[in-house]
Amino acid sequence: MGEHKRIGILTSGGDCAGLNAVIRAVVYRATGTYHWEVLGIRQATNGLLVRPPDAICLDIEKVDHLLTAGGTMLGTTNKGDPFAFPMPDGSLRDRTVDIIEGYHQLGLDALIGIGGDGSLAILRRIAQQGNLNLVAIPKTIDNDVGITERSIGFDTAVNIATEALDRLHFTAASHSRVMIVEVMGRDAGHIAISAGIAGGADVILIPEISYKLSNICDKIRERQEQGRNYCLIVVAESVRTEEGEQMMQINRLGQKRLGGIGQYLADAISICSGAETRVTVLGHIQRGGTPSPLERLIASAFGVAAVDLIAEGKYDQMVTWQKREVVSVPLADAIAKYRVVESDGTLVKTARGLGICLGD
Ligand code: F6P
Repeated sequence: MGEHKRIGILTSGGDCAGLNAVIRAVVYRATGTYHWEVLGIRQATNGLLVRPPDAICLDIEKVDHLLTAGGTMLGTTNKGDPFAFPMPDGSLRDRTVDIIEGYHQLGLDALIGIGGDGSLAILRRIAQQGNLNLVAIPKTIDNDVGITERSIGFDTAVNIATEALDRLHFTAASHSRVMIVEVMGRDAGHIAISAGIAGGADVILIPEISYKLSNICDKIRERQEQGRNYCLIVVAESVRTEEGEQMMQINRLGQKRLGGIGQYLADAISICSGAETRVTVLGHIQRGGTPSPLERLIASAFGVAAVDLIAEGKYDQMVTWQKREVVSVPLADAIAKYRVVESDGTLVKTARGLGICLGD
């Protein structure tokens, strides 16, 4: 079975459903098949910054129940870029040397990093700098990591957004309302277009396709003329106003987050169509809870494949899902460009074919 190894695993960036299923698969494969040790590093790279490094030994007993558990048992963070790490005195310091030292203190032969494009780019820079053996697994509900058709977390997020639409059909019909659902997705419209089609939306707005309010109002009128007394609209959080302004929510600390486009549309649609309009912002509900069966399947396949890459000594690679297969690609290629919804792709064509208004 080859030489004995000790491998590390960490989750980085925003959490999502399916992370625990990946951790479980890695432990099953690494300990069960290869008889290696697996150390789970807590709070992303932060676990490698503290002394002693914050890591736990993972065995099958510890991960057995994880297949259906949401979140990540290791914890994660989407703050604190190690290249400009915020110190208590307010200064920013490059702490990559400490992370590399933490990896060596744990005696790791390889590291599996589970993250989105931002986290994976950071992990790759650190691995290159320290000559660390890194294998990457893509995760993000946004599904915008390059090359892979699917990232961990996306399918469950789509299921949750679709279920929300399924429920909203009834209340919208009962009150003859326009219901707007604002979904996450950062700069990509993958959740919006997928859930919009699956949930029977009348209008889907994604950042990749610019829209006119008048087209949305025409669609609402068309549906009324067809005898439909309500309309469902899905909008991705990073869609801009008609004038091109990015809607952001700013809290009292001055921190900004994407959000508000749903309410902007509701006001504009009420004015132009006279329809009574309500907004549902799904938010972090899309990241939580039990992973869907497809999520568990992809998580399991990615976990096994990542361990196998280490067994083959193939590093600086990312596992991807392509045409029903797990294929490994150079990590540099995967993070070179993030993946948006193709405006001439199958989902956009499907939406148009169904008469769904995309706003253009
Ligand atoms: O990248 C995942 C994501 O959920 C985005 O869809 C969303 O814009 C962002 O993270 C929210 O981040 P936070 O958890 O920091 O509010």
